[in-house]
Amino acid sequence: MERRMIETGFTKEDEKIESSLRPRTLAAYIGQEKMKESLKIAIEAAKQRKEPLDHLMFYGPPGLGKTTISQIIANEMGVNIRVTSGPAIEKPGEMAAILNGLKEGDILFVDEIHRLNKPVEEVLYPAMEDFAIDIMIGKGSAAKSIRLDLPKFTLIGATTRAGLLSAPLRDRFGMIQRLEFYSVAELQRIIEASALVLGVEVDKDGALEMAKRSRGTPRLANRILKRVRDFAQVRYDGKITKEIASTALDMMEVDRMGLDRNDRRILGALIDMFGGGPAGLDTLAAAIGEDAGTIEDVVEPYLLQNGLINRTPRGRVATRAAYEHLGRTMPEGG
Ligand SMILES: Nc1ncnc2c1ncn2[C@@H]1O[C@H](COP(=O)(O)OP(=O)(O)OP(=O)(O)O)[C@@H](O)[C@H]1O
Ligand SMILES: [Mg+2]
Repeated sequence: MERRMIETGFTKEDEKIESSLRPRTLAAYIGQEKMKESLKIAIEAAKQRKEPLDHLMFYGPPGLGKTTISQIIANEMGVNIRVTSGPAIEKPGEMAAILNGLKEGDILFVDEIHRLNKPVEEVLYPAMEDFAIDIMIGKGSAAKSIRLDLPKFTLIGATTRAGLLSAPLRDRFGMIQRLEFYSVAELQRIIEASALVLGVEVDKDGALEMAKRSRGTPRLANRILKRVRDFAQVRYDGKITKEIASTALDMMEVDRMGLDRNDRRILGALIDMFGGGPAGLDTLAAAIGEDAGTIEDVVEPYLLQNGLINRTPRGRVATRAAYEHLGRTMPEGG
């Protein structure tokens, strides 16, 4: 897929601003109210008992704040966080070494946890359940397994693909939280907070316009703010108004709903080539020369969320809203 302005995954461009814009406390973490409420209680209870938190899993589309909330939890608990990721750990011994290096109460954050290979994942089972690892000593018939105790720690896993988690791993988490897309009002608050940090002047309507086009995703909201700031600075006096925001975003081909050419291409194909559907994901993907997994994980969630497509047992269907958004007429009886 061509590199998209509205890519919600982490890009090189985000590197510079993300760490400065990342909220550090629960209070500064905007939105996800239900999740924050459960976390507050869990954190409070664990602190009272002077015990580590239960193992936690966060899942949901890229850029919604999984890494951010994990770091906030470490911060609120006042413990160290050791960060690694599924693809970074290749051998069981490497996982054992990481676990063995943890101190009582520490958090181990495993990003993209669905990408751990099976032997590595198996090291986690006793570690999570009994705070122990089993190590093989010796070779051949003399080999025996010994159990090594670990300090009590908290594992936090994050994934964009909860469906790929194995049941034994999933079952060992005490709490599994799904992150939701953010409302326009929440994104507006995030943009205003980020503008303060970046020292950019944005009026209310300017922030609202950017929020509407941010696909429910804070990472994208921040990236859009950064791009529009550049535009406002070069073409105007630096202050972001509604007009400036919408001119800049139109130029970047991000439309009023935050859809870009890729989204419109998929909706267009569904309407023009398949009469609005139903079309199977693979068929649709093949028709536009796109990877089915990418459509499913990256493009589709936002289209579904906004009622532009429906998922039916027979495939994807374009809704009336999709026809209207693309300026097409929906056939009668559709
Ligand atoms: N609730 C929030 N309030 C304010 N800003 C947020 C919030 N959530 C995320 N952000 C901003 O969005 C950026 C991206 O969030 P984060 O890296 O936590 O996403 P993620 O879910 O881990 O994404 P990925 O799946 O790509 O790892 C953060 O650096 C932060 O600036
Ligand atoms: Mg992350």
